[in-house]
Amino acid sequence: MLALITGASSGLGLEFAKIHAEKGGDLILVARSVGKMEALKTELESKYAVKVYVMPADLSDPAAPDKLFADVQSMGLQVDMLFNNAGFSVYGLFAETDWKKEEELLQVNMMALTRLTKLFVPGMVERRKGYILQVASNAAYQPGPTMALYYASKAFVYYFSSALYNELKPYGVHVTCLTPGPTHTGFQDRAEMHESRLLKILPVAKAEPVARYGYKALLKGKRMAIPSFSVLMLQMGSKYMPWNIVVPLTRYLQGHSDMK
Ligand SMILES: NC(=O)c1ccc[n+]([C@@H]2O[C@H](COP(=O)([O-])OP(=O)(O)OC[C@H]3O[C@@H](n4cnc5c(N)ncnc54)[C@H](OP(=O)(O)O)[C@@H]3O)[C@@H](O)[C@H]2O)c1
Repeated sequence: MLALITGASSGLGLEFAKIHAEKGGDLILVARSVGKMEALKTELESKYAVKVYVMPADLSDPAAPDKLFADVQSMGLQVDMLFNNAGFSVYGLFAETDWKKEEELLQVNMMALTRLTKLFVPGMVERRKGYILQVASNAAYQPGPTMALYYASKAFVYYFSSALYNELKPYGVHVTCLTPGPTHTGFQDRAEMHESRLLKILPVAKAEPVARYGYKALLKGKRMAIPSFSVLMLQMGSKYMPWNIVVPLTRYLQGHSDMK
């Protein structure tokens, strides 16, 4: 099976790629860091009998998903598994954060994920077979002051995926939403979350087991993949506790100081 993985140059995406190759699956790696993806291609092709294609793309460019899809089509490739994994956060108070970065966040975390799903789903439905992993976050379960747009973008992914799971299941297309908690990847440095208490209080998972959990849940056709007990507790807390407690508590955990 051929898997297309966005955000395959580091963190969870890189682990998804390794797991898929270990199972003998071919890969299309998508991200901006060409060097890292070429190194991964060399490693995986030398270790396993698989073919790895590197397709660099900046998913903050609204035209990127359509260009990627067209390139895949013109190469005569059939994507059986889609891992919508690329994503990042902007940390800070909304009144002070950089709109350019936030616009890119909305584009990468929501629009590119949605457009890629839209482009690859019809072929999967036609073949009555397909797998789509949508990477959300524990952030999907409640509003998150100081990362307001990130939390909202992941809530979008969670709701979108759960609806698609219902629509596509009868046609043999599996949609799984993975909601990792804090995980050791490039994510925290990228978001400059140095003031976050969350990372000091909650256990921070290794990327490989989180990716493996999501991968297995996808193959089993599960709607949700909640990779740890602590994330399950966060989900339950957000569901059953009043949000006038949950939201200030989230703000406390996010640990950002007040406006300058
Ligand atoms: N780590 C955590 O604590 C955590 C928790 C919950 C959810 N998640 C989610 O897990 C997913 C993977 O993140 P990660 O933790 O593995 O972080 P990461 O190590 O920073 O990886 C993010 C990946 O997304 C790619 N990416 C970012 N912006 C992009 C763009 N404009 N165009 C194309 N690719 C782009 C990056 O590649 P390039 O820079 O090479 O483009 C990289 O491969 C994200 O959706 C994140 O929200 C992470």
